[in-house]
Amino acid sequence: SDTTYQQPFRPQYHFSPRINWSNDPNGLVYYDGEYHLFFQHNPVDSHWGHMTWGHAISRDLVHWRELPPAIPEENGVMIFSGSCVVDKNNTSGFGRDGRVPMVAIYTGHEPNRQTQHIAYSLDKGRTWTKYQNNPIIDLNKKDFRDPKVFWYEPSQRWVMAVVLPTEKKLLFYNSSNLKQWTKTGEFTAADSPASVWECPDLIEVPVEGTMERKWLLMLSMGNNGAAGGSGMQYYVGRFNGLTFTNESAPGPTRFVDWGKDYYAAVTYNNLPVRGNRGAISIGWMANLHYAGEVPTSPFRGMMTLPRELRLVKTLTKSYELVQRPIQELKQLLGPAFRWNGTDVSQLNQSLVNAGVSGDSYVLTAELEPIRTESGVRVRQGKTAQGDTEATVVGYDPLKQQVHVDRTRSGLVAFKKEFAGRFTAPLKPQNGRITLQIWVDRSSVEVFGNDGLITLTNQIFPSPDSLGIEFYGNALRSVTVQAVEGIWK
Ligand code: FRU
Repeated sequence: SDTTYQQPFRPQYHFSPRINWSNDPNGLVYYDGEYHLFFQHNPVDSHWGHMTWGHAISRDLVHWRELPPAIPEENGVMIFSGSCVVDKNNTSGFGRDGRVPMVAIYTGHEPNRQTQHIAYSLDKGRTWTKYQNNPIIDLNKKDFRDPKVFWYEPSQRWVMAVVLPTEKKLLFYNSSNLKQWTKTGEFTAADSPASVWECPDLIEVPVEGTMERKWLLMLSMGNNGAAGGSGMQYYVGRFNGLTFTNESAPGPTRFVDWGKDYYAAVTYNNLPVRGNRGAISIGWMANLHYAGEVPTSPFRGMMTLPRELRLVKTLTKSYELVQRPIQELKQLLGPAFRWNGTDVSQLNQSLVNAGVSGDSYVLTAELEPIRTESGVRVRQGKTAQGDTEATVVGYDPLKQQVHVDRTRSGLVAFKKEFAGRFTAPLKPQNGRITLQIWVDRSSVEVFGNDGLITLTNQIFPSPDSLGIEFYGNALRSVTVQAVEGIWK
């Protein structure tokens, strides 16, 4: 109905399921005009359980239509995270009458055992058949999950990257038919602070401004993420079809995102070729510290914006991840409020005069950081108790850090680990810091210096807290554009 997506904390331009629980994005794949987004889903309740692959499709990666659940729990085997491929050459033999099979590769979860399974669809992902000889890999382990499968052109083989979470070990397998798998390599990293590894993703991405491509390995960390609790880290290196060789120097952890709500992000398989487009990822906007307690209803769990991933080569010759919201989102943007100047009170007055405020918009601010902290308060307003609430996004030129402070952002007390101030290191480029801030009804995603750092956080403000107020002397230019909802 019309009210399905109208609750106070319902994301207006981020995907969330109509009702009930969701976590990791699964099986991201493009096929025949449709982008698929499967996801970990409890079809009966807004808490984790009965894991099933939920399903949504999109023609533009922006507007989504939720379909009935795709792959259900059965006989005590839950359907955990995994990936999807398009088997164009029918290597699996699942294809019939010239129909190309989509094959899902996922973890079958039983109380004391996790094994890898496959299922196929001959009708563009609408209905699925589980393979009769599942499991396809069984190591007799309690923790063994989250297979990422992709086609490796040079060897004409399928590759699987899958983790032993508690051992923080990534295993590689090869297959010619998606049914029989042979182990080809392992990867571990002594410098990882993660408690466990989950949801690996391995993909070749372009290096900005060059013809070079490198392999990006992203791993979800059950704990010790950048902002505490769960998070994500990455390594850059080589892949020869058999195993990954890290080339990132040891040192500080390379975090994918510096906010508290970025987990289980994985990338699309089988994207249509378009110029030097990067990989496209979607993540689960949550933290394991409190994912089960966020105050949303009748749904729980939302996805991040799809991001385009590339690498940049730094002066010290290492590679850093850059992430930008996908170009397709531009279709949602309204007319721009624009301001240039140096006087922040004049900026705030022009915002008031133009009536610029809201709960879903994108704001870009260019700062010339000189001495003191500058930034913006979004979703600002008064609580029922008469206190001021807002989420603060700022830049500290002395510490050279971007921060997001949600300690007084609205509802925060549902779990003690929720409130907090999160920082990301960022140096000015040509004397400037740019912050692109995507505000939705229950989230703030910050992209600093064109995607060099990102900070993703949920917020639960009062629906009336719609104010935007800048502070500090560093602001030089600002644009604000409303972002249209995607559910119409
Ligand atoms: C990550 C995760 C995965 C697992 C799934 C179960 O959030 O724990 O490792 O496959 O969720 O829902």
